Amino acid sequence: MKELNIFIRPEKLEDVKAVLDKIHCGGMTLSTCMGCGTQKGVSDEGSVNEIKGYKTTINLLPKVKVEVVVNDKDVETVISNICEVCATDHVGDGKIFIKDVEDAVRIRTGERGVKAL
Ligand SMILES: Nc1ncnc2c1ncn2[C@@H]1O[C@H](COP(=O)(O)OP(=O)(O)OP(=O)(O)O)[C@@H](O)[C@H]1O
Ligand SMILES: [Mg+2]
Repeated sequence: MKELNIFIRPEKLEDVKAVLDKIHCGGMTLSTCMGCGTQKGVSDEGSVNEIKGYKTTINLLPKVKVEVVVNDKDVETVISNICEVCATDHVGDGKIFIKDVEDAVRIRTGERGVKAL
């Protein structure tokens, strides 16, 4: 099993949900967040230089983070399909971080591993 931490543009969320639905993912967790990559928050449309009233040298832009744990066999499909739906050819399209997951437990039944996904 692998955990994918997927940072995307907020407007791409429905497309990403459709990709995950296609592989029948067992669940997902979503957070709205602020973030930056190599441009330090400068987008094609400009930047935010104040966060909650505090000046900052690094500008952060609104992003959505999707956390999903998937079966190993689905990892490359998810990655390529997300790249396909999220790529706009502009900076800030997002990033995917991939981590190994040792085990999982469905609390209601005690099922372990991929059965718990
Ligand atoms: N190294 C990182 N660690 C944690 N979060 C990151 C990292 N890089 C990117 N992110 C998250 O991903 C979001 C999107 O990053 P972004 O697509 O701008 O990456 P990039 O490396 O600058 O690529 P690009 O040049 O295409 O913009 C960021 O706003 C941030 O939330
Ligand atoms: Mg960037």
